[in-house]
Amino acid sequence: MSSSVSAAEGGAGMTAVGVKPGPILLLGAPGVGKGTQAKELVKLWGIPQISTGDLLRANVRNDTDLGKLAYEIMQRGELVPDSLVNEMVAVRLAEPDTLNGFILDGFPRTLPQAGWVDSRLASQPGALPVVAVSIKVDYTQLLRRITGRRNCPVCQTIYNIYLQPPKNEGVCDVEGASLVQRSDDTEPTFKGRMRTYDSLTAPVVEHYRALGRFAEVNGDQPIADVAAGIVSSVERLRAQG
Ligand code: AP5
Ligand code: MG
Repeated sequence: MSSSVSAAEGGAGMTAVGVKPGPILLLGAPGVGKGTQAKELVKLWGIPQISTGDLLRANVRNDTDLGKLAYEIMQRGELVPDSLVNEMVAVRLAEPDTLNGFILDGFPRTLPQAGWVDSRLASQPGALPVVAVSIKVDYTQLLRRITGRRNCPVCQTIYNIYLQPPKNEGVCDVEGASLVQRSDDTEPTFKGRMRTYDSLTAPVVEHYRALGRFAEVNGDQPIADVAAGIVSSVERLRAQG
């Protein structure tokens, strides 16, 4: 990890320069590294990662009504209806570990979701405004990242058979568990997810760019360098007030 990221270690949700991270939105196309980066930021800042994709996959695994509805939608690379996702996020945001801030990974993904989260945070007395960071990676690289991704089902570490391989093929370095591939990590579903991103989520990035407290980070760099870019952007934007 670069010196800039190490310098941010401060515990209790504070960076070394005293910046409270507050609510952070990680935006970007499928495979840009939102989950990978969220995990880096959790280690640095001690605030939780809230991934709507992970929450929906947990619903699918647990065979809930939401999971039954979400499965086919996710396989097509489309979006689960806003009202259901907003409700799921509302429940998670009510948990006390979000008080110092949180990293929303993969939410909001539509303009109505953005409107919902903006007004929810604005109605919370004393809450910091959101900082939005969009990660950028080109299409060819994204396809390689998506088709090469493998996950540990126990500790959720994210690998890539081409780019971030485990020490022993097919096995988690931390857990020794057999790695799994997401059922939507196929080329056809990736193409659907990209179409959805371009039509419904790219306008969300423009919404936050226009509001300010927004940064774009090049995701086509080593993981530690991307993390350092996000940390310095958040520190700069928070220092601006
Ligand atoms: P979700 O799970 O959020 O999928 P996504 O947005 O398509 O993003 P990914 O999780 O695929 O990629 P990522 O950016 O997290 O990349 P990662 O860090 O894993 O959503 C899945 C589905 O759920 C959606 O299609 C939708 O149906 C539904 N859904 C979710 N949220 C919703 C919402 N708000 N509203 C409605 N529906 C919703 O990295 C990818 C790979 O790259 C890994 O292999 C990793 O090892 C590698 N990698 C990462 N960084 C680097 C690097 N710097 N260098 C080299 N390799 C790297
Ligand atoms: Mg993810």
